[in-house]
Amino acid sequence: MPDWKIEKAPRIHSELTVPGDKSISHRAIMLAALSNGRGEVTGFLPSEDCLATMKAFQQLGIEIKRPDDTTVIVAGRRGHFAPPTADIDCGNSGTTMRLLCGILAAQPFRSRLVGDASLSKRPMRRVIDPLTQMGAKITAEGEGGCAPLVIEGRPLKAIEYSAQVASAQVKSAILLAGLFAKGTTRVTEPEQSRDHTERMFAWHLVRPKKNGLSVSVPGGQTLESRDFAVPGDISSAAFWLAAAAAQPGSHLMVKNVGLNPARIGVLAVLIRMGAQVNEIVENANCEPRGTVEVRGAALRATTIGGAEIPNVIDELPVLAVAGALAEGRTIIKDARELRVKETDRIAAVARNLRAFGVQVDECEDGMQIEGGATLHGAEVESFGDHRIAMAFAILALFAEGHSVIRDTDCVKTSYPGFYDTLRGLSKSTRSEIPVISSLRTL
Ligand code: S3P
Repeated sequence: MPDWKIEKAPRIHSELTVPGDKSISHRAIMLAALSNGRGEVTGFLPSEDCLATMKAFQQLGIEIKRPDDTTVIVAGRRGHFAPPTADIDCGNSGTTMRLLCGILAAQPFRSRLVGDASLSKRPMRRVIDPLTQMGAKITAEGEGGCAPLVIEGRPLKAIEYSAQVASAQVKSAILLAGLFAKGTTRVTEPEQSRDHTERMFAWHLVRPKKNGLSVSVPGGQTLESRDFAVPGDISSAAFWLAAAAAQPGSHLMVKNVGLNPARIGVLAVLIRMGAQVNEIVENANCEPRGTVEVRGAALRATTIGGAEIPNVIDELPVLAVAGALAEGRTIIKDARELRVKETDRIAAVARNLRAFGVQVDECEDGMQIEGGATLHGAEVESFGDHRIAMAFAILALFAEGHSVIRDTDCVKTSYPGFYDTLRGLSKSTRSEIPVISSLRTL
């Protein structure tokens, strides 16, 4: 359980890349496994979450080769899998568990999905209910509809479903099940969530129909196998982008990063807060990708809420940190979903901000952050949540004295190289002023 000791750093002048997108890496394996032949995925994120998805498909009889860390070659079996001989361990990964429910609901065998302590507390009824309406049999062994989940595959029928929450995991589970269902399955969400599944279906030549907030897919289609290059993860880039944005004089370029419109809300928020941001889409195939450039500024407070929330849901911890560094009162609202992430992110962020000397009012669906206070170094917990650990590593760069982030192992679930990049920034040849000058693992 390594802890990080981090000291105040001046500015960032750097150019970097971030590892592959987590949401897309999961789906790249899943869709390749469902397709009709061999597919090579490059730029794959070798994090614990995505490796859990890879292992799950190996347990389901899919041959997967990994010639190097970020390349996987998947032998698709047209959606016909082998019964697993043991429980499928989804680890910490909600995407693995919820999307697998959709795929396994129609398989003619029984499977049991388990997860770690955090995943075993996360709500699963949101996928169990619609899949049950489609004819699936899924039993939640945990209290309150939580994992472990036992799935007994059945023939499925299409449904028209209005989701209560804007969740790409729920939408994707239903659309994946819809591939196996009789008829056309339609999902309508209250707000637009990330659309990787829809875009990647289209890449594999199954074209879902979109109509406003509804998306539908006819059943009985086979995905065409096709190589896929995963772009860098904008949610990982967000930590560096926020760090650069909040420091006047900083300049950062992040290359080959995903720029899907349903994921770049973080850029809009930083622009509103006063940062100078340029994004250049260099390739718009399937998943747009390109370069983001940020120049730092004295940030000002903003309000984040409404339909914008699903677009920034994973970036809210680091945007709260940006709020603490901005002048004025930053308001985050309509973000109740944060309470059911890897940890209760509203409680965790509020507690950690206070430890650094920030005044925070917590509410059920968000928080209000009084920005601009002088920050003092603090010792804070990750609460076993990767994005909490990384967000507060960024805040620590702005605090007087040194800070400690405890229990940072969880960062491996999404960004195994985060700590190296944090250190590497200080050595960057492009650095005019060394950053992150003294950082070590305790
Ligand atoms: C994800 C969707 C989001 C996001 C998560 C990844 C996905 O979750 O927070 O990190 O890959 O579909 P919800 O669908 O629960 O909003």
